[in-house]
Amino acid sequence: MVSVLVTGGAGFIGSHVVDLLVDQGYGVTVVDDLSHGFLEYVNPKAEFHKVDICNQSKLGDVFEKEKPSWVVHQAAHIDVRDSVKNPVHDARVNILGSINLLECCRKYDIKKIVFASTGGAIYGEPEHLPAKEDQPEAPLCPYGVSKLAFEKYLGMYHQLHDLDYASLRYANVYGPRQDPLGEAGVVAIFTQKILDQETPLIYGDGEQTRDFVYVKDVAKANLQALREKTRDKIFNIGTGIETSVNEIYGKLRDLAESDTRAVHDKPVKGEVRNISLDCGLAERELKWAPTTNLNLGLQETIKWFREK
Ligand SMILES: NC(=O)c1ccc[n+]([C@@H]2O[C@H](COP(=O)([O-])OP(=O)(O)OC[C@H]3O[C@@H](n4cnc5c(N)ncnc54)[C@H](O)[C@@H]3O)[C@@H](O)[C@H]2O)c1
Repeated sequence: MVSVLVTGGAGFIGSHVVDLLVDQGYGVTVVDDLSHGFLEYVNPKAEFHKVDICNQSKLGDVFEKEKPSWVVHQAAHIDVRDSVKNPVHDARVNILGSINLLECCRKYDIKKIVFASTGGAIYGEPEHLPAKEDQPEAPLCPYGVSKLAFEKYLGMYHQLHDLDYASLRYANVYGPRQDPLGEAGVVAIFTQKILDQETPLIYGDGEQTRDFVYVKDVAKANLQALREKTRDKIFNIGTGIETSVNEIYGKLRDLAESDTRAVHDKPVKGEVRNISLDCGLAERELKWAPTTNLNLGLQETIKWFREK
């Protein structure tokens, strides 16, 4: 059985990746320090290790014991606004912790690593939308810089050590298990507020646009990135469709049949105004395209939050 080690596998996206891999018959090991993940999200068929990726020796012990062939790297400090306040912590996890992982990949002869990068925080304000992968990189926050820095490490490890990689630049991922208590994840935050009959806060005028992609589609992109023969590539993973924050709020309100009213606050520094991602490369080379339309994905999300 091919064995895959998934970092951040107790988190929102990572736990869906783990479920899909288990479902497809892979052996899965999860590494997560549970700083932002939940043990209850970890598939019971996966081996779980509560380990901080910044702890090189403990991470090495997991590789030694589980002997994975592939690595999917989802663990990260994910909060854009917090990265502005606390750039050292962001860099410690997203750069140094990730280099620890690369060192394990090198020592334990890993065949391929798939990395959860960002399309929302790397391109800055792109000249053309939807943005392609060759759009100049211009991160506006420490989180974007740390993700980009690690992509550069991946390129360098490929050159130096022949480690294959695929870096997936996700758009705004949403769906069941997203944390509504953090500052990232507008769909989860709005959904929880709407269901609790509280007043959601929209930063700025709400006309800023995002590319919303459903988490199970993102999990499939990770699977395809492992399966397809790509040696050293970066892929956008989104829908190519721009939706404004006001529109998302309106849709959630309608689908949940709620009469809550959002209030507006000042815009947040470090966040882009408009973004959507061209995913033609993933379609051609990973044989991947999103299949869940926004209304269906939002319905599934509301359903999960209601049941929770
Ligand atoms: N959610 C999005 O819209 C989005 C967009 C672009 C990129 N991403 C990337 O996707 C990945 C997954 O994001 P998510 O939304 O599922 O976030 P999440 O916080 O739910 O998942 C991250 C997981 O990593 C774990 N983790 C954090 N620091 C760790 C450490 N030092 N050692 C071990 N585990 C650690 C957390 O406990 C958590 O379970 C991240 O790399 C994130 O940067 C997410």
